[in-house]
Amino acid sequence: MPKTPLDYLSPAVRALRPYRAGRGVAEVAAERGLAGGDVVKLASNENPLGAGELALAALREMRAADVSRYPLSGGGELTRELARRLGVGEERIILGNGSNDILVLAGQLTLAPGVAAAFSRHAFLLYSLIAAGFGAEAAVAPAGTDFGHDLESLAAAARGKNVRAVFVANPNNPTGTWHPPDVVREFLREVPGDVLAVLDEAYCEYLADEGRGSLELLAEFPNLLITRTFSKIHGLAGLRAGYGIGDAKIIAALNAIRQPFNISAPARIAALAALGDDAHIARSRKTNEDGMRELRAGLDSLGLRVLPSFANFLCFAINDAAAIYERLLDKGVVARRLDAYGLPDMLRVTVGLPGENEKFLSALAESLSAGEVVTVTARERIGK
Ligand SMILES: Cc1ncc(COP(=O)(O)O)c(C=O)c1O
Repeated sequence: MPKTPLDYLSPAVRALRPYRAGRGVAEVAAERGLAGGDVVKLASNENPLGAGELALAALREMRAADVSRYPLSGGGELTRELARRLGVGEERIILGNGSNDILVLAGQLTLAPGVAAAFSRHAFLLYSLIAAGFGAEAAVAPAGTDFGHDLESLAAAARGKNVRAVFVANPNNPTGTWHPPDVVREFLREVPGDVLAVLDEAYCEYLADEGRGSLELLAEFPNLLITRTFSKIHGLAGLRAGYGIGDAKIIAALNAIRQPFNISAPARIAALAALGDDAHIARSRKTNEDGMRELRAGLDSLGLRVLPSFANFLCFAINDAAAIYERLLDKGVVARRLDAYGLPDMLRVTVGLPGENEKFLSALAESLSAGEVVTVTARERIGK
């Protein structure tokens, strides 16, 4: 048999399964014989209010040239405005095609066969895909309280042989767990200076202090790269816009290896407008707080154990999670299974609009009463 390019793939890449995104409304509606309007997607931690008026208006006013001409390659007004708001120099910011892009660039910069990336057991799935994609080993630290990070173990993993990067989502997806900046500082002190520490703050705007505390850490740790996104509270997931903040030399190195046009003109335009849309941000935060309360109370009243969450989703333990997930789909509710995260007894639900949260809770209650009893095993797994 003549060889093909696939014959040279590493075993780690061969073993990879593509990232499985939350299922879309149209797809689920067609599959389950439902009308599109009867399906709610609470599977991808998107903003249920969508994009703000300012971002949408900016997109409507976009010039034809913003579509036909190449966009800026780095820099520009979006970088200037981010720098101003974050109180850092422009040379400390890199823009990307979602924060995923920056995370992959961090992997490209530091990882290769023979070295390793550290992350914790139930961390955001992308980190393991990145490590495998660049042929690096994964140094996986055991989980801590509530399946979140055990930062001591993670720092120990980061001190392992040939580790070049450590990835920490804070708050973490899918658990929602969070560590305050002082605790993150202690962790960073234990990470060797030659290991790139990637602090993924995709959900930081949902926190009371908007993650401002972590920016102070940049002055102390030149090996720190913070990543943030316009996909979550800003409601622009479909456009793909994110950014990284770090030491100027690290940002320069990331800029040297990125694609020339790694953020589109529409994404830049909408992101810039979204940054200034304080009303939309406040409304989004309030919707999330109210929805969190409603969902948590509903899940509690069903006797389910819910992990503490500081983001825009909740993770809860449930027996027969796979069957319950299917029943929810039948009723037009798309939640997220967490098998790929090593949490087969749990489901994740994103905070929706009030009606969507209600629909989820009543669909879940019906699914449970359709046979399953929530035994203690799922709860015991999370220490209750
Ligand atoms: C922890 C975490 N980081 C990064 C991302 C990716 O965000 P983006 O849309 O900016 O690529 C997500 C998206 O779900 C996430 O949960």
